Amino acid sequence: MAYVIGMVSQKGGVGKSTLARMMAREFVTGGLSTKIADLDTQQQTCCNWAGRRAENGITPEIQVQSFASTKSALDEISRFDALILDGKPNASDQTLEIATAADLVVIPTGQTVDDLHPGVVLAHNLRKKGISPDKIAFAMFKTTGSERENSSARDYIAQAGYTVLEGEVSVSTAYGSASDQGKAITETSFKSLNDRASILAQSVIDRMVALQERQVA
Ligand SMILES: Nc1ncnc2c1ncn2[C@@H]1O[C@H](COP(=O)(O)OP(=O)(O)O)[C@@H](O)[C@H]1O
Ligand SMILES: [Mg+2]
Repeated sequence: MAYVIGMVSQKGGVGKSTLARMMAREFVTGGLSTKIADLDTQQQTCCNWAGRRAENGITPEIQVQSFASTKSALDEISRFDALILDGKPNASDQTLEIATAADLVVIPTGQTVDDLHPGVVLAHNLRKKGISPDKIAFAMFKTTGSERENSSARDYIAQAGYTVLEGEVSVSTAYGSASDQGKAITETSFKSLNDRASILAQSVIDRMVALQERQVA
């Protein structure tokens, strides 16, 4: 049975696909068989990225497949150790399907209220529809703020009743160009940037394991 992680957001362009690719790379490097289910049938961001990755000969290979429905993507659960669901750009009916299926739902957000507010509204809506707040986690992503601004963003999310993952990924052209080459954001040419992204990746893993242990207990 696979760990299932869902990437969702209210707004597009917040970093769902970038996060999905980073997590896939970290799982595969850690020895877990992994598939990204690309549910953004219009843009197929992860499928196209996997194509660039293969063209450029970057290892390890990451398996990505496009699925028209969440249901068909979930058939992969029995075949992999980790299944990452990368959703459509904006929130839709699919968002609840992803959140329902996932062991952990990650909502990427920048540090401004313009980003935080829609993220929290989405989390509240999922909660109203029966998703446990425990399995919702926010990831500070594409941040542009100072440490103080980022820390007040963390407080905003915590006060709304949700977990914020450790680590944050700031906006950087090096992250963008890594993606262009088919690399994950833990595979840039800069160790400091890779290390920073790794903290977030590890935090996703820690959170997932903690939730799993709680289920077993
Ligand atoms: N940390 C970052 N720094 C710079 N550009 C980034 C960063 N993270 C993502 N991007 C770019 O931002 C855009 C949107 O990211 P993406 O992951 O596709 O968002 P989503 O899947 O939520 O729509 C893409 O062009 C991506 O390459
Ligand atoms: Mg996307």
